Amino acid sequence: MPFDISKIARSNILSLEPYRCARDDFNEGILLDANENTHGPSFVDMSEAERQLDLNRYPDPHQGVLKSQLCAFRNSERSDVEESKKLQVENLCLGVGSDESIDALMRGFVEPGKEKMMICPPTYGMYSICGVVNNVDIVKVPLELETFNIVPQNILSALKTDSTIKLVYITSPGNPTAKMVDEKLLLELLQGVEENSLNVLVVVDEAYVDFAPVGSSISTLVNEHPNLVVLQTLSKAFALAGIRLGITYANREISRLLNAIKYPYNISNLTSDVAIRATRPASLADARVKIGKIVEQRGLVLDKLLSLKYVGRNRGGLDSNFILIEILNKDLQPDNDVANKLYLTLATQRKIVVRFRGKELGCTGCLRLSIGTAAENAVLVEQFEQVLTQIVEA
Ligand SMILES: Cc1ncc(COP(=O)(O)O)c(C=O)c1O
Repeated sequence: MPFDISKIARSNILSLEPYRCARDDFNEGILLDANENTHGPSFVDMSEAERQLDLNRYPDPHQGVLKSQLCAFRNSERSDVEESKKLQVENLCLGVGSDESIDALMRGFVEPGKEKMMICPPTYGMYSICGVVNNVDIVKVPLELETFNIVPQNILSALKTDSTIKLVYITSPGNPTAKMVDEKLLLELLQGVEENSLNVLVVVDEAYVDFAPVGSSISTLVNEHPNLVVLQTLSKAFALAGIRLGITYANREISRLLNAIKYPYNISNLTSDVAIRATRPASLADARVKIGKIVEQRGLVLDKLLSLKYVGRNRGGLDSNFILIEILNKDLQPDNDVANKLYLTLATQRKIVVRFRGKELGCTGCLRLSIGTAAENAVLVEQFEQVLTQIVEA
């Protein structure tokens, strides 16, 4: 059976028409349609650049320029997509970080109190938080815990036995795993969903994808696989967590619904201005250079830490801007007490903050460390060795 959005979306959302403003029809001349203050903002020290942003005006609800730059960027990364299936502006919906996109999908596609979502632990914590907020039950199908890959057969059999599961959130590269999920496995899952006409969306959260090899994103496949939704963000590889810009890629029908759900002015003039400048070719090339530096530093930090007596395996992958390493006790076993003590001591006595992840499935004794600048990493590595030895040998 072909993809049928009416079997996936909530019925109240299906008929929702996006909010329209007068400016969708007329946007030139004396604009007195939106109850804005045309005298302009009054804060002191306004820069010339800020003046140019028309901050007294509501932002563009559609963000066409930004969306077309994002499409051009992603389309340029993969040559295996037919011309007619390439990303277009209509495939995109923008959010206040991908956290908003995670929530919007739940609001659009899962009936509170009746339907469910699936996560594959260990994974990012916001899916569950949004699930609780939206009164949506959570089904857990763990990753394969040695490789941190998804197990398509397990996901498919859970979906076949419970038709109320409407969304599957998969993180690739994973958090806290730092591991790309094999594209072959994602395609196997999508094929299973399509062949069995399962009414579910497979949401692949690619927050960290630009730290993996170029071309790793499957955002360009949304026009080939109607049940696929891909999330991205400017918070990580593009170093713009402060502007809050997330991107959802989906087939046109899903994207139309997501754009109808979103608050019309969710992307501010300030965010849009920075995001447009940051996604021009010259900026993207600069981001690539910085990504290269992070990847290089990641290797150096990892080599150094793995050489320490009380550090065990690199538990995660090498596809992200962080690593997940095991902290060992005196008997050289991964140990949550030692890892947690190391985390607390580094934060309180050495002013270095990393993340304890030992309670996540398959992550016993693990700390997650973001890769910083060369100077930050040098301090981290030195203090890490001192504090860890002190804790274990005390
Ligand atoms: C896997 C994953 N998805 C989404 C996000 C949220 O990103 P944003 O800053 O775009 O809300 C994060 C942030 O840490 C993340 O790790």
